[in-house]
Amino acid sequence: MVEVDSIKKYFVKRNGFFTRDEKVVKAVDGVSFSIKKGETFGLAGGSGCGKSTLAKLITGILKPDEGTVSLNGAVDIVFQDPFGSLNPRMTIQEIVGEALYIRGKDKEEIEKRVRDSLRMVKLSDSNTLTKYPHQFSGGERQRIAIARALIHRPEFIVLDEPVSSLDVSIQAGILNLLKDLQQEHSITYLFISHDLRVVEFMSDVVGIMKEGSLVEVASAKDIYNSPKHEYTRHLIASIPTI
Ligand SMILES: Nc1ncnc2c1ncn2[C@@H]1O[C@H](COP(=O)(O)OP(=O)(O)OP(=O)(O)O)[C@@H](O)[C@H]1O
Ligand SMILES: [Mg+2]
Repeated sequence: MVEVDSIKKYFVKRNGFFTRDEKVVKAVDGVSFSIKKGETFGLAGGSGCGKSTLAKLITGILKPDEGTVSLNGAVDIVFQDPFGSLNPRMTIQEIVGEALYIRGKDKEEIEKRVRDSLRMVKLSDSNTLTKYPHQFSGGERQRIAIARALIHRPEFIVLDEPVSSLDVSIQAGILNLLKDLQQEHSITYLFISHDLRVVEFMSDVVGIMKEGSLVEVASAKDIYNSPKHEYTRHLIASIPTI
């Protein structure tokens, strides 16, 4: 379903406004993996290791310097911050249906498909369509972001820290919703999180990323029961226990 082959993305960072000192950040430095249809590939790793850059390369928001990404079908992305990613001046109907307006679909069809998408994320209250993002809770806003991704009926969705900004009590509801959607529509996920417990709950296969590279890829079971790489062990050891 998804095939990522030796992709690289380097950024050049200047050390200050008036200096010519430049530093190359190897955000993604030769990453390869594949995801089977209907499965979840969980991507974990510390802050700044290149997860979001990888997500952008896979969804085509960024172009890789080297390497290739092959996808079998439509892809969409859901970001971490459900406030920042939803335009506060647009109604829910406009936000969720935006891609269809751009394609010039007629109004009735758009409204029907927006309602279908909202029903899929269990936001089917009849006056949802005319409300604005600030009238919803964080969890509801993330459902709206998911509904927006679902409007294309994508076969593959990249979820970049989809629950990280949410209260723990809200997280489970979103994670279970994502699992239900996957079951019903056999959607493939790339699920990104720095929270290893969340990754374990969601994933079939897990990749551990460090400084732009994948240091270990294994089934979720093996990653947690018999981690091979030292960094994986370090991450597992630092999971807080309650
Ligand atoms: N547009 C950009 N220009 C320059 N450097 C960038 C750019 N985007 C990312 N970087 C750098 O690339 C590295 C990887 O960033 P990225 O956002 O992919 O990390 P991440 O794993 O998603 O981190 P987090 O867990 O904090 O979200 C970082 O050092 C970051 O500063
Ligand atoms: Mg990120």
